[in-house]
Amino acid sequence: MKNISVNIDNVKEFTTIDEIMELQTEISNHHKSLMDKTGKGNDFLGWTSLPGEIDNELIDSINEVAAKIREKAEIFIVIGIGGSYLGARAVIEALSNNFEALRKRNNNPFIVYAGHNIGEDYLSELLEILDDRDYAMTVISKSGTTTEPALAFRLLKNHLENKYGKEEARTRIIAITDKSRGALKKLAGNEGYQTYVVPDDVGGRYSVLTPVGLLPIAVAGFDIKKLIEGAVVIQKLNAVTSVIEDNPMALYAAARNVLYGKGKLVEILVNYQPNLYYLTEWWKQLYGESEGKEGKGIFPAGVNFTSDLHSMGQYIQEGQRILFETVLSVDNPKKEVKIPFDDDNLDGLNYLADRRVNEVNKMAELGTTIAHVEGGVPNIKIEIPEVSEYYIGQLIYFFEIACALSGYILGVNPFDQPGVEAYKRNMFALLAKPGFEKETEEIRKKI
Ligand code: PA5
Repeated sequence: MKNISVNIDNVKEFTTIDEIMELQTEISNHHKSLMDKTGKGNDFLGWTSLPGEIDNELIDSINEVAAKIREKAEIFIVIGIGGSYLGARAVIEALSNNFEALRKRNNNPFIVYAGHNIGEDYLSELLEILDDRDYAMTVISKSGTTTEPALAFRLLKNHLENKYGKEEARTRIIAITDKSRGALKKLAGNEGYQTYVVPDDVGGRYSVLTPVGLLPIAVAGFDIKKLIEGAVVIQKLNAVTSVIEDNPMALYAAARNVLYGKGKLVEILVNYQPNLYYLTEWWKQLYGESEGKEGKGIFPAGVNFTSDLHSMGQYIQEGQRILFETVLSVDNPKKEVKIPFDDDNLDGLNYLADRRVNEVNKMAELGTTIAHVEGGVPNIKIEIPEVSEYYIGQLIYFFEIACALSGYILGVNPFDQPGVEAYKRNMFALLAKPGFEKETEEIRKKI
């Protein structure tokens, strides 16, 4: 079976292969420190060996719990933010029907998300919907202390208990958190919730192949074994070589860093399939939070083509030449739609009659790539045979390894996020959280 692969043909006009290959020694050293778990942030390298080590008992337990939820809930709420939210959503949306919300209910609950914003209308409207629906939820927080999910969980737990009574409510909540620390762990213990553990050595944005991602994905009705199987294939491929020509993660990491060195400061992840929107959001978090520090890092952006060709397309073609694109190029859609012949042909589209919509999409992709490359935007292509559990699993592990290598090439620790604390400190100070008295006094002078 074909694997995902990286094609840099459209980078060669902007750099030479030699320049990319010059990074080989550096990449090999970083690859080794990643595999030996001796590099920067090595407390958080558990995810590198994770896919091949996932316990069958854990998978079976997750599938059993998911089956029980499917029996009694028509809505399943995933409460979490950042790495405790985006991975699950990326996979679920990629694999789901584009019109899931409008489909007749099947066995799978409709997945909704909370705890990733503090929108009062959002939460109020969610609670309103839940008044007359059967639902269950998972609350996911590695630290167990993050404000956004804690706030949403307090509201939703209260609603759930009022609706079903405390005892039944307990059977409809699954907590995913640290094995011993944090407020959520304590609460889950006190209430006796079903609990899964986020491993100590796996950080939020690298945690999609732990229960953090696997439980919601299983509840949504997708095959988590296939997802892991795909990741294991790339894990094995990565383990045998760091040679740039043979290791697609090394090739991607090297190419994007060479482009960055040439002033291409923004990487745009491009998709031509709307259900990959959240995969881009996950990728933006993975790369943005891992690389953007110490005044360094490629800015990760995303576009959805062909929609955004009618908006951002203008800037990409002719704006500042600080961009490069990485295209998620899917070979085969799941479905087939042929364009019908029309007797009147008033729209002039009969030249497309009997051809597949995908052919038009593919020609849009090719035409756009040629135009953007000619306009000064290098283009890396990630070839994906199809959007399935297996290939999404491959992509996840691919992007994670490439991100770690890229961060090491930049010289940063790709596994911390010190910059995320600044807004929290200010928010707590402004809300007069106990323990923040000094900060409250200081910030009040600024406003
Ligand atoms: O990647 C990360 O570490 C972050 O995005 C976290 O996942 C996010 O801040 C949520 O943290 P927690 O799971 O502790 O609530």
